[in-house]
Amino acid sequence: MPQTTITLGHPIDFARWRSATRALVGQHVPPGDITWHVAPSGPPDTPEPASPPFRIPRETMQLAADVLQSMLPDRFTLAYHLIYAHATGTEIPPPELARMEDVAQAVRAETVHLRHDLFTLMQRGDGHDAWNATLDAATHAPECNARFMTFQLSLAPWRLALPGRRMEWTGEKLLYGQDGTAPAPIAFGSLPPPAMPLVNGLDISRITALPAVALAARTCRICPMARHATQTVFGEGRSDARMMFVGEQPGDKEDLAGRPFVGPAGQLFDRALLEAGIARDDTYVTNTVKHFKFRPRGTRRIHEKAGPEEIASCAPWLAAERRIIRPHVLVMLGATAASALLGRPVTIGRERSRAITLADGTTGVVTVHPSFLLRVPDEAARVREYDRFVADLKLAASLRAPTAP
Ligand code: URA
Repeated sequence: MPQTTITLGHPIDFARWRSATRALVGQHVPPGDITWHVAPSGPPDTPEPASPPFRIPRETMQLAADVLQSMLPDRFTLAYHLIYAHATGTEIPPPELARMEDVAQAVRAETVHLRHDLFTLMQRGDGHDAWNATLDAATHAPECNARFMTFQLSLAPWRLALPGRRMEWTGEKLLYGQDGTAPAPIAFGSLPPPAMPLVNGLDISRITALPAVALAARTCRICPMARHATQTVFGEGRSDARMMFVGEQPGDKEDLAGRPFVGPAGQLFDRALLEAGIARDDTYVTNTVKHFKFRPRGTRRIHEKAGPEEIASCAPWLAAERRIIRPHVLVMLGATAASALLGRPVTIGRERSRAITLADGTTGVVTVHPSFLLRVPDEAARVREYDRFVADLKLAASLRAPTAP
């Protein structure tokens, strides 16, 4: 067979690799017949190959994405082989599969440290001026984590020098360039999804039962909040729920009870669910961040907004809940949940009350956080806002697939 050459726009061009993979696997082109080539000067102008419909399990695609972040010279071929074997029902030689898993494991093991390093660098920005940093990551691509933290956490502009390449966030655009070329804009989605980090040496992405994830989360100490809160407040509800609700973080009452949404905002939420015809017991309710963040004032504990580091640290837990539950509809209660789940800054007023497709294909609905309703000072406005909230919940319920008869 003649060799097919695929030209990628940058060293971890996940989007082009994925669309080429879909097209070539559809034509049964074996891994050995493809040469992967990275264009030295940014994305080539050639059109994307047509991609026939093709279903690849999320775990398989994530393993391929993790392999691409390893920066191994043959990473594109390895990741292609994974998808090719899955689609054609052929076996990957065990040593090759073991190598991929080792590589992915190493990438996951580095992710927590990498996010901490990036976060430390990012704190240098004062919110206006771009910060500049050099990160000596020769074997692991930090680009996906830099993107993840930036869009998830709405960070200030930055410039990051990496071995042989540079990346820049202008506040509006992501620029990327290899040495000797001017950085050019790249699409956010051209980078692979970041690897699922290991927490306390544990690979959460391999746990398949929700109670086991909840148990592991109890011992998580990767962010400072865990040292002050009473306990981890994990999500609760059905592991086969069709609707999943995500709030911001537990409040005072939730911290003491160890259960999400049981305080004043939770009571309002329960009332609205009832009015929308949704049984809370049939759903799964959780938070973006699993610990209560507060500032002591006398004997009171005053809620403090969860910051970027806490949100990034807790992301593996939320990802694990989503992976296991696979809800039909994900309801994002407030801006913290919406920007964490959509991976970009979100203005609630602009994005609420309609179906949104998340990166993995899940249907989402953005709405206000119930505690917002408690803070509306004017009675008439409060009633109006509450009715809108109930309407959003009804919309979300209407997007569930029906239960099997
Ligand atoms: N607010 C939240 O976001 N979550 C809770 O569990 C309680 C209040």
